[in-house]
Amino acid sequence: MKINYSEPSKDLLMRIDIHEKYGSANIDVWTNDLLKPQAGMNILDVGCGAGKLCFLFNDYVKGGAKITGGDFSEELLDKAREKNKAFGADINFQFLDFNEKFKFTDNTFDLCTSAFAIYYASDLDFTFGEAHRVLKPGGRLFVSGPLPENKQMFYDIIKEATNATIPPMPGSSRFKGDIFNTISKIFAKAELHKFENHLTFPEVAPFIDYVRASLSEDRKLWTSMFNGKDEYEALIGKITDVATRWFKRDGKLVMTKVVGGILATK
Ligand SMILES: C[S@@+](CC[C@H](N)C(=O)[O-])C[C@H]1O[C@@H](n2cnc3c(N)ncnc32)[C@H](O)[C@@H]1O
Repeated sequence: MKINYSEPSKDLLMRIDIHEKYGSANIDVWTNDLLKPQAGMNILDVGCGAGKLCFLFNDYVKGGAKITGGDFSEELLDKAREKNKAFGADINFQFLDFNEKFKFTDNTFDLCTSAFAIYYASDLDFTFGEAHRVLKPGGRLFVSGPLPENKQMFYDIIKEATNATIPPMPGSSRFKGDIFNTISKIFAKAELHKFENHLTFPEVAPFIDYVRASLSEDRKLWTSMFNGKDEYEALIGKITDVATRWFKRDGKLVMTKVVGGILATK
């Protein structure tokens, strides 16, 4: 299955900012507690975007690990490189398309991670086969992504606003099934962990910011709902009306992010 996907960097950064501002729990703490990266490790982050996980691990090990971040978006890689320079970090950010053979030799990494990215892979057997190949024996793979119950309120509001069927999202619809099964088949051991974050919006506006930054995340997948700028703005208008009604009724808007983390060992 070929999935057209591109992430404008401002949308990704906006969502990260909103998670941090309005969330009840911190996914970074959860990730570090689960993985406990160590100095001396060789780490690869696939679909690294602007480098969120790379910088998280780099801070955690106080610069003591060798870290590589790979992404196919030059725009996001540039953002990551700018931050790398500004922080005086020594992370290697490079082009990597996870639908192609990874440009690393076998048995290179202790840890291979991918946050909200690798589940867009066209051929799961191939991509997770590559992750397995570049890991050392006993090395670990960590893949995080949305579970089917993720952001239920976001989809309910859109459903009420449009009366339309929500298109299936490649992440949440595949994460527990195809993705977990593929990893279990290829790796010696795989387990599923869960993280919940309740985002409480104290007003409608930041929720709409989140909606905008999310609809464009999977813009190509949402095309059944809008065509062009005018229809997009009309859709946002309808969503704003429903969100405002819900806000008046409940006094707040709460959206729960439900994230799965698959941890596997080679
Ligand atoms: C939702 S963002 C997550 C970025 C980052 N991991 C984070 O947690 O902030 C998804 C990322 O996957 C990347 N991506 C999508 N398809 C890709 C591909 N075929 N090869 C490499 N990266 C890809 C996008 O460019 C984007 O950076």
